[in-house]
Amino acid sequence: MLGGKTNFAADRAAADKIIAEWPGSRASASAARAVMHRMVRRLAAVHGIRQFLDIGTGIPTTPNLHEVAQGIDSASRIVYVDNDPIVLAHARTLLAGTSQGRTAYVEGDFREPAKLLADPALRQTLDLDRPVALTLINLVHFLSDETALPLVAELLGALPPGSYLALSAGTADSAPAWAAIASRRYSEAGIENHLRTRAQVERFFAGLELDEPGVVLINRWHPDPAAGPVPPDGEVMAYAGLGRKP
Ligand SMILES: C[S@@+](CC[C@H](N)C(=O)[O-])C[C@H]1O[C@@H](n2cnc3c(N)ncnc32)[C@H](O)[C@@H]1O
Repeated sequence: MLGGKTNFAADRAAADKIIAEWPGSRASASAARAVMHRMVRRLAAVHGIRQFLDIGTGIPTTPNLHEVAQGIDSASRIVYVDNDPIVLAHARTLLAGTSQGRTAYVEGDFREPAKLLADPALRQTLDLDRPVALTLINLVHFLSDETALPLVAELLGALPPGSYLALSAGTADSAPAWAAIASRRYSEAGIENHLRTRAQVERFFAGLELDEPGVVLINRWHPDPAAGPVPPDGEVMAYAGLGRKP
């Protein structure tokens, strides 16, 4: 749906089915990726963040998080985490950090934060005494509030003041008919999914200082018309927000 060659016949068949049902799904997928670029750019360029912990990385697309961050400061350090071994195999092949900065890939699970934070590759790459941006892009909608909220709190608890949470999460608020289709397709494939209202997404930022403009639909989060057309509300299915740990 994002283009590129890193996909399999089963992915293409699933994507074709979704595109046939919802022609706007390609634009929606691009918008979901583009907000990550804008969040990382703002974290690096405006908030001075040089360390990123990205959980639920997914198969790499260009530009990936480290390219955006290291494009602003080549010394930036990034740890990618995913629990899908196929994702990590592709990530190791396709992603390369700059010589000054570092990029590490960890096969790990968001649901095991203590194990993740103790991972030697993570520890060698990130200095947890200095601010880190925890980026959870399109991940928490696979988990209930009961599971996801304490996990995010635990991860943020291990990061020093000045760290950030960058989060985007699926919603049915803006495109309810399409969201119902997407949710049904995930369920049919045996994948638990939880679409959230704005207020529910805001709960992930409890105790954090919300960066402007707060939790908003991804097309409204610091849109950058120079980077491509800004989709209308009816074409996006996620909220995004950035919060600073005081
Ligand atoms: C929808 S993709 C999002 C990819 C990327 N962050 C993006 O926005 O383009 C979700 C990713 O999260 C990973 N994932 C799902 N549950 C996870 C978990 N419990 N721990 C780590 N990764 C997980 C999946 O393998 C998948 O690669």
